[in-house]
Amino acid sequence: MGSVGIIGGSGLTRLKNLQVVGRRVVRTPFGEASGPLTFGRLGGQEVFFLARHGYGHTIPPHRVNYRANIWALHHVGVTHVIAVAAVGGIAQRMATGALCIPDQLIDYTHGRPGTFFEGGESMVAHIDFSEPYCANLRARLLAGVAAAGELAVDGGTYAATQGPRLETAAEIRRIEGDGGDIVGMTGAPEAVLAREIGLCYAPLSLVVNPAAGKSAEPITLEAIEAVMHDGMARVRHVLEATVPL
Ligand code: HPA
Repeated sequence: MGSVGIIGGSGLTRLKNLQVVGRRVVRTPFGEASGPLTFGRLGGQEVFFLARHGYGHTIPPHRVNYRANIWALHHVGVTHVIAVAAVGGIAQRMATGALCIPDQLIDYTHGRPGTFFEGGESMVAHIDFSEPYCANLRARLLAGVAAAGELAVDGGTYAATQGPRLETAAEIRRIEGDGGDIVGMTGAPEAVLAREIGLCYAPLSLVVNPAAGKSAEPITLEAIEAVMHDGMARVRHVLEATVPL
């Protein structure tokens, strides 16, 4: 198999345990990725890491160049992508601090360049997206969770919203009615593009707050950051226990 790509979301702009060998700027037909790819070894496996929001966390979810990011990872020989993301919890089992490996996706985003198939030279392709995530990589992640002595919710529906604002309570009620269990702003079109280009892609989500209307408390950045700090340390352990695949 090829290399592993890890896309870090909020709270994970660096992989402390990655033995960094170098950085690589990849030119893509879609413009600039969120930054250079950091590559090195993790558990003996070649890993390419990319901070989704930029290494200085300056790119908001609706401005991330998802096409460039996915294209760049594919271009350097990555075959498997673990997509780390902080999310809000909707379903009761998605408590703050929980890890989750979702198995379904609903896309509520709009206006984001969301396909590699733009007509013209490229063929029109209607990919099968019934199961949006790679079953093999999900299983590896679940094994990694167990090996790290952690617990994670196996399955659930990730709802991708446009952001950058958080949702209204009514929007969350609607999403819950639709079957959404967790809510984040970056899961689409990232997963779509990965499937289009042939990458095995799976999400690793950390619940950092109760979604809008799910708690009497207001959602504050301070509270989110407190959860993120510990939570992303646990995510790092899971990644270490998952890689090499
Ligand atoms: N909504 C959307 N995205 C998020 C949230 C949320 O509540 N928390 C972290 N990312």
